[in-house]
Amino acid sequence: MKNIVLIGFMGTGKTSTGKLLASRIGYSFIDTDCKIEQVNQMTINEMFEQHGESYFRQKEQEMIKTVAAYRQVVISTGGGVVLNPENMRMLKEEGIVISLNASLDVILERTGRRHNRPLLEMEDRKAAVIELLESRLPLYAQANLMLDTSEFSPMQIVDQIVEYLKKEGEIHA
Ligand code: S3P
Repeated sequence: MKNIVLIGFMGTGKTSTGKLLASRIGYSFIDTDCKIEQVNQMTINEMFEQHGESYFRQKEQEMIKTVAAYRQVVISTGGGVVLNPENMRMLKEEGIVISLNASLDVILERTGRRHNRPLLEMEDRKAAVIELLESRLPLYAQANLMLDTSEFSPMQIVDQIVEYLKKEGEIHA
């Protein structure tokens, strides 16, 4: 059975959906940002501050290489994982890729709750989100399935994913 990989912009619900999905289908759950923080013993904010974005992207690629080799896991990725084609190649090799999307308003609301996303620590957060979204939307579209989470709870999104996985013969639950 393949891995299930969640990609998508910040605030689209990758982590909460991924956790629920994993427990529903009996797979282990991995959040790559969380693992990067554990392995490097610093937060992503600190990594950006002390070493810059390209350092984080390098650590991100190393982590993707590690987790892409696992089997039967649900992997939640950081929103920028799609920027590196090599990441996507590795993840797709043994994984079904599901892209979570959300409306601009929902993204702004969800990402405004905490200050843990260095790319959004701008004076004009809305403009930053619009610019990043526009440049990344074609990259998120590489997924096998795209779901808009704006109007749904993580539980409802899990139902939709499970339906899709059954249809594809990926799970028999
Ligand atoms: C990033 C998204 C973040 C995290 C880092 C960079 C991005 O993850 O990896 O701050 O480039 O979109 P989430 O999508 O889980 O917030």
